[in-house]
Amino acid sequence: MGFSSHKRRLVAGNWKMNGLLEEARQFLDGLGENPSPDHVEVALMPPFTLLHPLYEPLRNKDIRLGAQNVYYEPKGAFTGSVSPMMLRDAGCHYVILGHSERRHIIGETNEMIHAKLKAAWENGLEPILCIGEKLEEREAGRTNEVLKEQLSVLADAPANAPLTVAYEPVWAIGTGRTATEEQVAETHAFVHEELVRLGHDCRVLYGGSVNPGNAESLLACPGVEGALVGGASLKAESFTAIIEAAAKAAEE
Ligand code: PGA
Repeated sequence: MGFSSHKRRLVAGNWKMNGLLEEARQFLDGLGENPSPDHVEVALMPPFTLLHPLYEPLRNKDIRLGAQNVYYEPKGAFTGSVSPMMLRDAGCHYVILGHSERRHIIGETNEMIHAKLKAAWENGLEPILCIGEKLEEREAGRTNEVLKEQLSVLADAPANAPLTVAYEPVWAIGTGRTATEEQVAETHAFVHEELVRLGHDCRVLYGGSVNPGNAESLLACPGVEGALVGGASLKAESFTAIIEAAAKAAEE
């Protein structure tokens, strides 16, 4: 299939609804001078309130900034929403879309995610599109069907639109339970196949309880080109260890 080896790995930290200014300062200090190794791209998605203050200090460490969500309208009477242009203005390169917490807690639909993808591309943002099945869907043998449906939002996407996909089994997010290497390799192969069919030979990350202890083996699975890290991205020490594991996996 020819994926993976030519792509630089991405380690992206998703802080979710965590992080105050002082905590962010301590995190930055803990990262040291040069946290981005040659073969690994590093990105951080703090909450909206920290985007602008973190842009410059992260840029100085060669870390890209991203947001965790965006609204699809450009501006206007949408109280509480943030537009793609505002994210660009704050220095964002990435935006996470379709995270399972937004799909299942907030009720975001594929239709909304489709509109957000379009708006992100129109404003020069690179979406990290999250997909993943729930435990009962995996147990019912419906994983591929669910992922296919979630990827269908890409059907009319422009061919060269910048895109990263993150496969995050819902049952592995924040639970300490990770997919086995076999499940990861098998599912990533399916996701890549489906992406190629849709005209997007893009990078696919794994996410769900990635930590310093399991990062190297997960990142070495075929078809895994990086990690989307939640809990373990909140502390500089564990985030750095995952970045180092990605660098090691990239060398092998
Ligand atoms: P987790 O979160 O690493 O805490 O499981 C991953 C994510 O939700 O992106």
